[in-house]
Amino acid sequence: MSAKKGAEERPLAVVVLAAGQGTRMKSAHAKVLHCLGGLPLIQHVLRAAEPLGADRIAVVVGHQAQAVEQACAGFDAQFALQAEQRGTGHAVAIAGYAELGDFDGDVLVLYGDVPLLTTESLRRLIAEHHARDATLSLLTTIVEDPTGYGRIVRDAAGALVGIVEERDATPEQRRIREINPGIYCVRSRFLFPALERLRPDNAQGELYLTDIVAAAKRAGEPMATVPVPAQEVLGINSRADLAVLERLVRTRTVQRHMANGVTFLDPETAYVDVTVEIGADTIVGPDVHLSGKTAVGRDCRIDGAAFVADSVVGDGVHLKPMVVIAESRIEGGAVLGPFCQLRPGAHLHRDVHIGNFVEVKKSEIGRGTKANHLAYIGDATIGEESNIGAGTITCNYDGFDKHRTTIGDRVQIGSDSQLVAPVRIGDDAYVATGTTVRHDVEPGALAFNPKPDQRRPGWVEAFRKRKRAEKKR
Ligand code: UD1
Ligand code: CA
Repeated sequence: MSAKKGAEERPLAVVVLAAGQGTRMKSAHAKVLHCLGGLPLIQHVLRAAEPLGADRIAVVVGHQAQAVEQACAGFDAQFALQAEQRGTGHAVAIAGYAELGDFDGDVLVLYGDVPLLTTESLRRLIAEHHARDATLSLLTTIVEDPTGYGRIVRDAAGALVGIVEERDATPEQRRIREINPGIYCVRSRFLFPALERLRPDNAQGELYLTDIVAAAKRAGEPMATVPVPAQEVLGINSRADLAVLERLVRTRTVQRHMANGVTFLDPETAYVDVTVEIGADTIVGPDVHLSGKTAVGRDCRIDGAAFVADSVVGDGVHLKPMVVIAESRIEGGAVLGPFCQLRPGAHLHRDVHIGNFVEVKKSEIGRGTKANHLAYIGDATIGEESNIGAGTITCNYDGFDKHRTTIGDRVQIGSDSQLVAPVRIGDDAYVATGTTVRHDVEPGALAFNPKPDQRRPGWVEAFRKRKRAEKKR
């Protein structure tokens, strides 16, 4: 026989249960796909587990398996299909058959609908499991309102006896406020045989994973419980739970940014996804939404009511009120708004100014160029230090294809001009006010449409007379 391995060297496998539909969510989407702080629930759990460096991660999928697998992208996980959801014990057994058949070590079981759990708490659970040389260890917590959770049953001496589900609990057991968060660390040699012996003799007719606790007790196996803050192990079963946790996640996220030197004028109304980065000394005003893969630089000012999704914002950028930005890149020193929209593919170089009622899409705008009022810039490339006058429109779409507009450096586009793409306007060109540009403009040229500016003296009085006469008839 080989020498017994020390507990710390035992391999670790993580099993995440994510096969359930989540009936109480009243949703067409599997529960673990619902988003919290901008990420699906399942990703929160995987992010907490990842730093543990487990030898294997198995996710049990069932309801909308394919979508759930996709939501786990980026993690080195294997998937075990639980075609029929016959309970949490059944789910872990499926993972055992499919992915952990030959595994000998500790199995950390996590529920996909318990997203606030921290890596640190998992580390404490594993450390205690090892220190006590336990066969089965679990986190427990005490809550004000234990409704919906399995209750931790202890004997008079305080030793763990088992877990009873709410629906199977006696009125007396229902008053127990110590609950089961659903996080266990179990020796595989005990776990898998114990799962084989589970029976669905309970109110839900399911194979309860929680029954392994009573089984371990009966077998005299050493067990350990580790207390964890209640907030961390809140489960999501309903939309109301989702809203409560969303708030908690937001608070956590904003506090993390404040600790890193970001000012929030009203943390209560800052909606920042967990994936967002913000540089120090940036000031975030009220009602700001920063989502997805957004990264905001240092020393920025976001005055308020801004929606920024999947975008990179450089240092010292000023976003005035009411800006909507998606999948765009804004370099340092740019000033945007109030009231403007950058749609996907906008790339503003340093010190660009985009003012009110200006929309930019799939366009690159060179350093120091300004479009301050009422313009549509779509599928355009604009050079440096140019000025796009009020009411300029790139006419980029002919009903079939999109065409590009190319504008050079130091160009002046007069107000109320239409640039009919495809069209090129050379460096230092001027486009006169109110011009419809249909052909390329060579560098340094003035483009204009001859439109005589005429007068008809006395026309208004004659017009009004005619109208009034018509009305009397
Ligand atoms: C479970 C626990 C309960 C605990 C609570 C903590 C059991 C029997 N009960 O109850 O003690 O207090 O979580 O939040 O374990 N799942 C599967 N396959 C199945 C059934 C469930 O993968 O066949 C997954 C679900 O997708 C979910 C997780 O397991 O992610 C928990 O299932 P759920 O039905 O929400 O269990 P609870 O009733 O909340
Ligand atoms: Ca649950």
